Amino acid sequence: MADSAKLTYQDKTVELPVVVGSENEVGVDVSKLRAQTGIITLDDGYGNTGSCLSGITYIDGEKGILRYRGYPIEQLAEKSSFVEVSYLLIFGELPNADQLQEFREHLTQHQFIHESMRHHFEGFPPTAHPMAILSAMINAASCFQPQLMKFEDDASFADSVARLMSKVRTISAASYKQSIGQAIMYPRFDLRYTSNFLYMMYGRPNLDYEPDEDVVRALDQILILHADHEQNCSTSTVRMVGSSQANLWASVAAGVCALWGPLHGGANQAVIEMLTEISASGESCESFVRRVKDDPDTRLMGFGHRVYKSFDPRAKILKAACDKVLDKLGVQDPLLDIAIKLEETALKDEYFVARNLYPNVDFYSGIIMRAIGIPLNMFTVLFAIGRIPGWIANWREVHLNPKARIYRPRQIYTGETARDYVPVQQRQG
Ligand code: ACO
Repeated sequence: MADSAKLTYQDKTVELPVVVGSENEVGVDVSKLRAQTGIITLDDGYGNTGSCLSGITYIDGEKGILRYRGYPIEQLAEKSSFVEVSYLLIFGELPNADQLQEFREHLTQHQFIHESMRHHFEGFPPTAHPMAILSAMINAASCFQPQLMKFEDDASFADSVARLMSKVRTISAASYKQSIGQAIMYPRFDLRYTSNFLYMMYGRPNLDYEPDEDVVRALDQILILHADHEQNCSTSTVRMVGSSQANLWASVAAGVCALWGPLHGGANQAVIEMLTEISASGESCESFVRRVKDDPDTRLMGFGHRVYKSFDPRAKILKAACDKVLDKLGVQDPLLDIAIKLEETALKDEYFVARNLYPNVDFYSGIIMRAIGIPLNMFTVLFAIGRIPGWIANWREVHLNPKARIYRPRQIYTGETARDYVPVQQRQG
């Protein structure tokens, strides 16, 4: 294998070092290119740019492989729990029994939000999207404990991790309660992470509510599948913000905003909206797929991925889970039938085949969340709760890198060249 690459521009040839990853991915290191030649590389949308070295998550988009810290996503989804997977992502190894117990206890201990924060929820109008509330409240939460913004040692980092993960879940459920005008519920000490979330979503002060075990498991699996996905838009945002040495909470709040967009985490909500529209209009799946091909502004939401050029392994797991969950809960959802038909139609269509467009994680996750009663505007919030450990792990990688520099891409300027200022009275038109 070559350990350098040559680049020739005009009459100059430079040798560029090659970096090989542990799965034999090869990258040409262009970091010194501008200093040596005056030119930069241009990669609009970063589709071909490695922005960092990372030891957290491995994806092979051609083969449909996803692994967290080396462990296949299929094994983790089947055998692990969201809390255990979070520990793995953040601290690098699966915890032993004592470590897992201690982590769980930390999460339980820090699950409350400061009482004064409850008034902040009242300041949001009922129309506020829970993603807006979530990002604002993550920053607000850190103001109540400014010591969390700096880590002296591993113990204070672990403390901040537990607080962030646990409070994000409490804030998310509270933002939902606020939006429907119900009392915000305190978390319980006897429930685990995912059950507690469901309790805070659906519990009422005057009614008993015990989360259903099948529903807990289905949601836990969704969180595992969303826990990390290497350098996607929101994770790159967290790393970018973290690279300025902004604190963990501010960086994660920025990640929430990036995730909100319909081309990223917002796609799970957009899929259900698309399926509902097809169902209400009575349009056939064939006709909808034709419309997608003819109209550049209409996309088949939940299809396509920047990295996966074959099946998204998370979509495979969720499709199987979807059947199981709906069956167990006795839910008949006509949107599932439309989704299956749409998938069949698209996978046979030359347009989708030629562009390697397959269902992604968002195509089936929304149907499961609907079946377990998660309201539509909370879908992306669920994605955010799931992605928190991945964001923390990536932020930490930046934070611990002794060679870390502020992320600062360059550009090729295409605007006006230098011109003189003209006073307003003399401007034409
Ligand atoms: N429906 C129809 N056509 C599509 C779709 C789609 N869902 N996705 C991509 N294409 C087409 C594009 O029009 C383009 O066609 P062209 O070559 O004729 O111009 C080609 O496929 C390549 O698409 P790009 O937009 O260049 O692909 P990119 O890698 O930039 O985008 C993305 C990836 C944003 C996920 C895109 O596939 C998309 O918009 N999908 C729908 C939204 C969605 O499901 N997002 C969730 C992604 S997963 C996640 O974030 C968790």
